[in-house]
Amino acid sequence: MRVVVTGGAGYIGSVVVARLVGSGHAVTVIDDLSKGHREAVSQGAELAVCDLGDAAELGHIFKVFAPDAVVHLAARSLVGESMIIPGTYYRQNVTNTLNVLEAMDVSGCRSLVFSSTAAVYGEPGFQVGGSGIVEETPTGPTNVYGETKLAAERMIGWYGATRGFRTITLRYFNASGAFGGLGEDHRPEAHLIPNVLRVALGQAPNLAIFGGDHPTPDGTPIRDYVHVSDLAVAHIRALEVLDGGIVGNDTLNLGSGSGFSVAQIVETARRVTGHAIPTVSTVRRAGDPPILVASGERARTILGWNPTESSIEAIIGSAWEWHTAHPHGYSVSR
Ligand SMILES: NC(=O)c1ccc[n+]([C@@H]2O[C@H](COP(=O)([O-])OP(=O)(O)OC[C@H]3O[C@@H](n4cnc5c(N)ncnc54)[C@H](O)[C@@H]3O)[C@@H](O)[C@H]2O)c1
Repeated sequence: MRVVVTGGAGYIGSVVVARLVGSGHAVTVIDDLSKGHREAVSQGAELAVCDLGDAAELGHIFKVFAPDAVVHLAARSLVGESMIIPGTYYRQNVTNTLNVLEAMDVSGCRSLVFSSTAAVYGEPGFQVGGSGIVEETPTGPTNVYGETKLAAERMIGWYGATRGFRTITLRYFNASGAFGGLGEDHRPEAHLIPNVLRVALGQAPNLAIFGGDHPTPDGTPIRDYVHVSDLAVAHIRALEVLDGGIVGNDTLNLGSGSGFSVAQIVETARRVTGHAIPTVSTVRRAGDPPILVASGERARTILGWNPTESSIEAIIGSAWEWHTAHPHGYSVSR
């Protein structure tokens, strides 16, 4: 298959690209390198450095490459930032998704896998021991980031209804781990595991834990961690399912079904790295739900997806290997 991957120089996108190339697909990455890294793009893929805001250039790339399918990952994804510069998030996550849909439509490509997020659910209010968030759980974003991703999901749905697009929206929870020399290097880094490992590497004195008084067994928030390689496999399965005409339009949670608390992550990282990893407790962050765990049952059924690398030890072990090999991340020059 000929596949365009937007955001393929980013954390999840780079692993999706590596897995696609490894499975024999022809891949063109479209990325403006605003957040991604040139060296994270697999050698076997072509890189078109292009801002998705440039609809004319985007149209040109689609015309020349003539893809069979698109995986659209490029987005802005910092919750806090989205509440400060909402216009940027609407432009990047909504308008640019529209540009991708229009470029697809004009070029005759109607198969799309879209990266969405747990943030569309807001604060769904599950209790310890609950069965997890399912796709029917009502959405209710509590920040601009989640709202813009939900708006993009809805827009994609209408291209399915009106323009014959076949689409699968994948809602990720916490992508984590490293695969094939590709790891997590967001700047700034908002995710827990790389920040825990930064302390283990001696690059930060301690880890701030936001709130120890959540209604969870150890008082720290519980999240669902899925290995980035398992996520990438789900994208390939989604492309295959779309290609086979099995699915018209669907939305799937990529959750592991089990959660780990911040304290459990730190404890596991201490075991894996052999470092003390001191922590300090600070106040709860507003709008931080105590538990976000998703059921991946529907993805298992529709995609035949079976996350095999998502044990917390494997996730932290692979991330630690990558961070020790790349203590300052990818090279600074993009
Ligand atoms: N990382 C997670 O845990 C997580 C969780 C839920 C959802 N997601 C979603 O997954 C996707 C990828 O996340 P990530 O962590 O890999 O992010 P990332 O920032 O590492 O990658 C995003 C990539 O998109 C590129 N990009 C951004 N704006 C662009 C533009 N205007 N034109 C072209 N390229 C542009 C960046 O340069 C970067 O390479 C996002 O859509 C995000 O919302 C991520």
